[in-house]
Amino acid sequence: MYSVEKLADYSPEALDAVAASLLSALAQEAAQIADEAAWKVFRDRWMARKNGILTQVNDIWLKGAPATAKRDTGRRVNELKQAVEAQVETTREQLADAGSEARLAAERVDITLPGLRRQIGVEHPVIRTMNEIVSVFRNMGYSVGEGPEVETDYYNFESLNFPADHPARDTQDTIFIAGQQHRPQRDRLLLRTHTSPVQIRTMEKQPPPVRIVIPGKVHRHDTPDATHSPVFHQVEGLAVDRGITFCDLKGTLDHAMKAFFGSKVQTKFQPSFFPFTEPSVEVYISCIFCAGKGCRVCKMSGWVELLGAGMVDPALYGFVGYNSDEVSGFAFGMGVERIAMMMYGLDDIQQFYLGDVRFLEQFA
Ligand code: PHE
Repeated sequence: MYSVEKLADYSPEALDAVAASLLSALAQEAAQIADEAAWKVFRDRWMARKNGILTQVNDIWLKGAPATAKRDTGRRVNELKQAVEAQVETTREQLADAGSEARLAAERVDITLPGLRRQIGVEHPVIRTMNEIVSVFRNMGYSVGEGPEVETDYYNFESLNFPADHPARDTQDTIFIAGQQHRPQRDRLLLRTHTSPVQIRTMEKQPPPVRIVIPGKVHRHDTPDATHSPVFHQVEGLAVDRGITFCDLKGTLDHAMKAFFGSKVQTKFQPSFFPFTEPSVEVYISCIFCAGKGCRVCKMSGWVELLGAGMVDPALYGFVGYNSDEVSGFAFGMGVERIAMMMYGLDDIQQFYLGDVRFLEQFA
């Protein structure tokens, strides 16, 4: 390893020689530097104030020079100092360049590899149908509302004119939240069996007139099969104002069904019963598969039952502080899955919930 020796000869030729051998040692050592740590050792070996090679050159060569050679030696020592400093700096720069080249090499993208295709999702057919139903009513000036899926006995039943222990409750096989016996019956929680509680919640919040559609998820204690699911969706509608009649109900629903299934579709209203509407009806549409001639879907009748409806029972107005002498209204409720199955010609409701991409892709 290079070290600074005492000089016996200060002739220009001898000084040339020692300078040359110092520079060649410097170049050789610089060529070995591979990383930052090695560079620091190199820098200190050559430039440290205490005992670095430059310091030794100063102390040994320059201070030991005879008076006649002082000038010449001083000039050379200065040149060597500049050469060392320059070399230390260049080596550091080369190291940095090499580092970023290595990083770039590591980050290089192989553009010949096949790409990752990100599948873009689509609206689920049930949600899509629900939005389409809602937009038909929006176009008629209805606003959109929502309510909780975990509901109280009061909103799901009592305020809708299903008294406690009334047999009408049996028509909606209910999933109750456990451990509620300590509460008054009206506060006990359940999973709402229909979207009708939001009729009451809406009327409690605002005075008449009301025109609202309420899309949402509902639950019933049903065993899953081709036409039943314990979780499904409904769209509820409510219109309350002065002078609303059964004709408004018929006209509104007839228009909605035509907007939805096409202008040739006909509607039929048959008497039915719901505790919260009086009179109540089941609404049928002419079968869209056979145009009313009779087929497998409509069980040869030409008609398909699609929703429940009726004039709001005046008893409900008592629960929400409306004056039943002044206002009247109608309500309706429809199953979204049932309508989606009609629209898309499906015969198994379970397909909506399986999450099978092959099924869902067809709606893209
Ligand atoms: N809530 C009723 C059901 O789920 C449907 C309905 C809504 C009927 C509004 C009349 C009026 O069966």
